[in-house]
Amino acid sequence: MPRKKESKPPSRAKIEDLKTPKGMHDIIGDDYFSYQGFIEKAQEIALYYGFSPIETPILEKGEIFTRTIGDFTEIIQKEMYTLRTKGGDKLAMRPEGTASVMRAYVEHGMRTLPQPVMLFYSGPFFRHENPQRGRLREFRQFGLEVIGTDKSIADVIVIKVFSTILEEAGMSNLCVDINSLGDKECRSAYKKALTAYFRKYVGSLNTHEKELLRYNPLRLLDSKRGELQEIIEEAPESVDSLNAASKQHFKEVLEYLDSLDIAYNINSRLVRGLDYYSRTAFEFIENPADDNPSDEPPLALGGGGRYDYLAKALGARKDIPGVGGAIGIDRIIMHDTGKKLRPRILKKPKVFFIQLGFEAKLKSLGVIEILRKAHLPVKQSLGKDSLTVQLGIAEKTEIPWVIILGQKEVIEDSVIVRNMSDRSQKTVLIKDLPDYIKQVIAK
Ligand code: HAM
Repeated sequence: MPRKKESKPPSRAKIEDLKTPKGMHDIIGDDYFSYQGFIEKAQEIALYYGFSPIETPILEKGEIFTRTIGDFTEIIQKEMYTLRTKGGDKLAMRPEGTASVMRAYVEHGMRTLPQPVMLFYSGPFFRHENPQRGRLREFRQFGLEVIGTDKSIADVIVIKVFSTILEEAGMSNLCVDINSLGDKECRSAYKKALTAYFRKYVGSLNTHEKELLRYNPLRLLDSKRGELQEIIEEAPESVDSLNAASKQHFKEVLEYLDSLDIAYNINSRLVRGLDYYSRTAFEFIENPADDNPSDEPPLALGGGGRYDYLAKALGARKDIPGVGGAIGIDRIIMHDTGKKLRPRILKKPKVFFIQLGFEAKLKSLGVIEILRKAHLPVKQSLGKDSLTVQLGIAEKTEIPWVIILGQKEVIEDSVIVRNMSDRSQKTVLIKDLPDYIKQVIAK
């Protein structure tokens, strides 16, 4: 009988090869609390200003984004993570939040609610970008959307809330770059003006830029290619194509910002990387003096704008005006000058708990629960047995009070409370422990 050929076992990757995917990272230790602290503060401020929370799925039908973000944007051309389910659905990992929130607004009939509907959200977003400083493939945003009004005050609420959040997070000398792209009418006039202008330089454009000139000349203004910069400098400005209504809207936004003492810089080159913007577009740029010793261009800490035609692009029967923006949370956390915001659930441990012997280990979780109910957070090292080792750990934590539960104390329903600074100690009945601890730590 012919011998069956022995198949080789599939080769298995070593654990060191199974790292997080490029441009994605674990959030651990103190960083975790920094993210949580920032999000908590941002949510609190948004709630004060009347926003409500929303959470949309990480996966959406791909069309939500392809219909709204724009065919000739980096996101749609190169960066979207897409997948096909076993059932044949084409889904995408959300690259941004606005299209999803508008989808939810329409899907849940929020049009029937008092307008505008003001929503906030936070969570991970995905873009297959080239990872570099402040540019990740999985990144986190905190976003705001005001849907159902085209009034300029809505644009300003969004900018004001972001500027408050960024200030609370310790970002200094903030200045918002702002521009107006105008409504449909102005945009098409502006596109024509840009096309006529760039046509004069068609010889200096590469193949991709020629394609942009044909389909989406606004994107040419976003080009970072050195040779094009001088040409871009002299390009027509969107504000010159504004009609009376868009001019008035922009003027009102600037007047509100003046009255709120929010520093801004009119940046006529600001077109943003997503195509759905109309009228206001803004970006909070990091202060280069803050945290950027290198020559790298400063990063946008957040950005947004108005998107009055997005709903129709999604398939809504009527236009639904809206305005919003998002802060890149990772960029705030990595900033050296940022203030570390702590989440409220993070409590400083008041006592270190030590147990000796099996009986004491059994009883220890009961004692910790009594302390938790009395709002006294505990640090412990229940996996350890030796007194010396546990005292050593307690010493390192610098918690001034230690509780010791030994064999004798287990029988007597008591613990020893030790003051780590003068080594004095006292036996306390477990039933009296919370009051005793509160009393000594208050001194
Ligand atoms: P965006 O400008 O693409 O806008 O992103 C907003 C912010 O997210 C950026 O200013 C940046 O801080 C951060 N961010 C973007 N991409 C990355 C990345 N690869 N790595 C790290 N951080 C990043 C939007 O996403 C719009 N949905 C904002 C909006 C809401 N417009 C209207 N409503």
